Amino acid sequence: MGGREKIITIAGKAELTAGDIHYLLSLAAPEEIKLLGELAYAVKKEHVSNRVYFRGLIEFSNICSKDCLYCGIRKSNYSPERFLMSRMEILDAAMFAQANRYGSVVLQSGERTDQAFIDFVCDIVSSIKTATQGKLGITLSCGEQSEETYRRFFEAGAHRYLLRIESSDRELYGMLHPQDRHHDFDARLNCLRLLKKTGFQLGTGVMVGLPFQAIEHLVGDLFFLKKIDADMVGLGPYIEHSQTPLYLFRDQLWPSQERLVMTLKMIAVLRIMMKDINIASATALQAIDGFGRERALKLGANIIMPNLSPKKHRKDYLLYEDKPCIEEEREECRDCLEIRVKLTGDEIGYDAWGDSRHFINRNHKPQPYV
Ligand code: 5AD
Ligand code: FES
Repeated sequence: MGGREKIITIAGKAELTAGDIHYLLSLAAPEEIKLLGELAYAVKKEHVSNRVYFRGLIEFSNICSKDCLYCGIRKSNYSPERFLMSRMEILDAAMFAQANRYGSVVLQSGERTDQAFIDFVCDIVSSIKTATQGKLGITLSCGEQSEETYRRFFEAGAHRYLLRIESSDRELYGMLHPQDRHHDFDARLNCLRLLKKTGFQLGTGVMVGLPFQAIEHLVGDLFFLKKIDADMVGLGPYIEHSQTPLYLFRDQLWPSQERLVMTLKMIAVLRIMMKDINIASATALQAIDGFGRERALKLGANIIMPNLSPKKHRKDYLLYEDKPCIEEEREECRDCLEIRVKLTGDEIGYDAWGDSRHFINRNHKPQPYV
């Protein structure tokens, strides 16, 4: 069987084997990668339509109790000025999302588990719900928490939660995180289970092109996402940050273009494997390629996250280097992304939550502002 037929045959299968996934992720000829992307885009159109949903991203605090070896806001990096946005600033950003018909916001922060922080998050979530008459969808991304905390977040009105597994391989996970009780693969896995049990739409994902990572790990990651039955996935290229320990291993990385192309292939294969989930076009893609996010939309991604964080804090939320939109205001990101999405030929789903079809399909429950 020639390359083209083989790709088409694999993409049409109900279940992909490890060999199939390995084959697709190893594609190197541009016309074969293009074909993979076209097949994935056709799946996206059929199962989740070509409507792209905006999630206004509010990075509301960079204070973090964790020390992940790759992350620019790890607690041992003393360079960023630590901040917690005020209640008014966060509400203001959420009202901007509402006024501009984004449909949803993502509240993201470093990880804190103290009571004052949990209470603050619950207050913010319920205040946004009240201020928008329940119309704005709220996703939280505040790391590992207890079951009780997840329940409080859910009851306050958040209905989706993002917590990336980062790498589904226990050993590789161990190499990316310090070996202490705060960084534990099993605890992370347990959180994903708890989030589902609580009733959240579950978002998780991985980084692609990490030091020590091989294609076999990425095959495992795709199986993991399928097995955990994620409703939403965000996966992006790993990008080195000079103020982190992992920077020492930068000479072992794939060149950034290869990390980009591998991430795009991962998105395409994921779309073929999990047809009705939401897949985010990660901002990190744009750090490598000015059109990285649009390229992801063209091969399966259907979610984009315009940054709503106040400009004054953006330079202190650099998870990785060359992060885009550091100098831009939220209006500029809005206009920029509207143009970018339209140029791909996709439509923007305004004033809608744009919930994961997968979640709706597995729960058989229509949501109010889908
Ligand atoms: N490169 C790419 N992505 C990163 N993240 C953190 N640090 C980096 C980095 N150096 C991602 C992690 C995290 C998400 C919020 O940002 O996957 O879950
Ligand atoms: Fe921020 Fe383009 S998305 S400037």
